[in-house]
Amino acid sequence: MLVSPSILSADFLHLADELRSIESAGADWLHVDVMDGHFVPNLTFGLPVIKQMKSIVTKPLDVHIMVSNPDEVAAGYVDAGADLLTFHIEPANDPVALAKFIKSKGARAGVSLRPATPVETLERVLPHVDLVLVMSVNPGFGGQSFMGDAPDRVKRISAMATRLGIREKLKISVDGGINATTGVLVGASGADVLVAGSSVFGATDRVAAIASLKAIKTSLA
Ligand code: DX5
Ligand code: ZN
Repeated sequence: MLVSPSILSADFLHLADELRSIESAGADWLHVDVMDGHFVPNLTFGLPVIKQMKSIVTKPLDVHIMVSNPDEVAAGYVDAGADLLTFHIEPANDPVALAKFIKSKGARAGVSLRPATPVETLERVLPHVDLVLVMSVNPGFGGQSFMGDAPDRVKRISAMATRLGIREKLKISVDGGINATTGVLVGASGADVLVAGSSVFGATDRVAAIASLKAIKTSLA
């Protein structure tokens, strides 16, 4: 299992220290939540902050853009240092073209969907992305409770990828309310990556918190 701690739960007044702390604690990727105050009712950070983060980190930046205009802004985030750029399918004008564009710029492309968006909407874009980010909370804030239907959604997306013949090359990531207990539920359904904010940054022992998530077995069910 890969673990991508969400820096939304970091202490922003000591961001450099937090990034070093989480990297040395065993993070595989660093999950960066960009919120525009429009697609979601919260505002976080954008290009200048990501560029500066990129200059000091060694792990890949897993950038999740919760914005209303992903087609317009994607290039900027790849240029700023996103190694993986995940956009939401709901506001994207042309998800397939956007995924291809992100890859043409040298980054990996991910697509995400809100909990209320039917998984069937992914069918056309799935063969063109490297990762699907399944939201297990309504996007916008850290620290929310995991939604119980997420494991079933992961299972259905995994089955869709198997049917399309792309399961081995697609990563399924789950974001929202992930801890050692909920991580087991989505791992058993096929999740390959766990995004965790409050359960990792809020832990007294971050090494142990990440290790317990990494130890979760994934299933290609
Ligand atoms: C929510 C963000 C998540 C969030 C996860 O919109 O996409 O990445 O930071 O935080 P926790 O793990 O606290 O639910
Ligand atoms: Zn996120």
